[in-house]
Amino acid sequence: MSDTTGQTLKIGEKDYPVRSGSVGPDVVDIRKFYAQSGMFTYDPGFTSTASCESALTYIDGDEGVLLHRGYPIGQLAEQSSFMEVSYLLLNGELPSKDELDKFIYTISRHTMLHEQLAQFYRGFRRDAHPMAVMCGVVGALSAFYHDSTDIADPHQRMIASHRLIAKMPTIAAMAYKYSIGQPFLYPDNSLSYTGNFLRMTFGVPAEQYEVNPAVERAMDRIFILHADHEQNASTSTVRLAGSSGANPFACIAAGIACLWGPAHGGANEAALNMLREIGTPDKIPEYIARAKDKNDPFRLMGFGHRVYKNYDPRATVMQKTVREVFDALNVQDPLFETALRLEEIALSDDYFIEKKLFPNVDFYSGVILSAIGFPTTMFTVLFALARTVGWVAQWNEMISDPEQKIGRPRQLYTGPTQRDYVPLGQR
Ligand code: SDX
Repeated sequence: MSDTTGQTLKIGEKDYPVRSGSVGPDVVDIRKFYAQSGMFTYDPGFTSTASCESALTYIDGDEGVLLHRGYPIGQLAEQSSFMEVSYLLLNGELPSKDELDKFIYTISRHTMLHEQLAQFYRGFRRDAHPMAVMCGVVGALSAFYHDSTDIADPHQRMIASHRLIAKMPTIAAMAYKYSIGQPFLYPDNSLSYTGNFLRMTFGVPAEQYEVNPAVERAMDRIFILHADHEQNASTSTVRLAGSSGANPFACIAAGIACLWGPAHGGANEAALNMLREIGTPDKIPEYIARAKDKNDPFRLMGFGHRVYKNYDPRATVMQKTVREVFDALNVQDPLFETALRLEEIALSDDYFIEKKLFPNVDFYSGVILSAIGFPTTMFTVLFALARTVGWVAQWNEMISDPEQKIGRPRQLYTGPTQRDYVPLGQR
């Protein structure tokens, strides 16, 4: 309980109740504020606004803490699996072995796509960005799975959630295969969720594909690190789309579109492209200077965060995973040294210290994904693949929330007041 628990905020003659969660900042309940004051609150970017109540994920930005249903991300990344974390996010508790086995079996039985969807890919140019393909194909799922679009039916919501979690690896792998002109591989359900994805992505029909256990473990951990992150921009997009009653496939397609932006999930692709542009450590000071220059739109991609004003705990795990993947694949990438040096220089620079800009989840992920063999254009696709479980868990939580209403923000209007139309001949 915080020292504001149970208090009220008095504005004018009206009192607004302060509510406490289980941990984190209290909130002032201003749902009656406009009706009672005739005023709106103003918070572009929602820097001080809680859009909902949620029990899924908690972030303490000052301490660099991330909990999924109370479990620290570091423990989940080290000891759990993406399937188990998916079950945890969807159901609220860690599964028993039997529950986990049943969940994995259910997910594995939804990995195939409707065969006609494979034709859908052929409408794209081969050089289409895979995120464009993901937006299109995921949105098109609602044209094929009519038996899981009734959001009022909890059973249909569950099937749609399982379908989305299960099919994203297949859709992502097919987007990659299509971009390189190789044939699609069907899922092989004898493999793990992540092993299945690696085989569909890097396997070919001409030969047996052996999943590298160290790469499978690293990829699974990367999926865990991206699974959910409270009310980030793409999750808020999914919730807003869902608040209108849109079907789950359309909502997730909206989330994918939002995630694509370089300020959000697109930062992993932008961060590796930035490291490639910097090249060697001797060029770092030039880019640090550009990042600090108010007249230069350049920002250090993979640095800074709306919530974390400390080290993103996911970046810590990610940096450790780089070395594991390099050792497993016996590769080295000088860009990793450049990234380490860039972090070291930035974190000792007053600008980054004062603004509390630390590496985020996107800073090191590209180095790992590149070492595994993914092109940069696939990085945000992998983020979307993993975040799908967070999106569907948040969407389900919203639909089940008795207090949820259609999202409809207001505005501070600064345009012209009413004036009469002037016919063309009089202008
Ligand atoms: C993700 O919300 C989530 O949880 C997202 C995410 C998730 O899991 O869903 O964590 C995933 O999106 C991570 C963030 C990936 N984006 C990037 O790495 C892009 C680079 N970072 C920035 O664009 C920025 O830091 C944001 C968008 C992440 C956060 O922006 P905010 O919170 O709106 O902060 P801001 O833009 O107001 O920045 C505060 C100050 C500004 O300077 P002043 O105007 O106060 O002088 O810090 C500066 C900014 O110019 N700043 C940077 C910087 N990030 C912020 N300066 C240089 N380089 C940067 N990266």
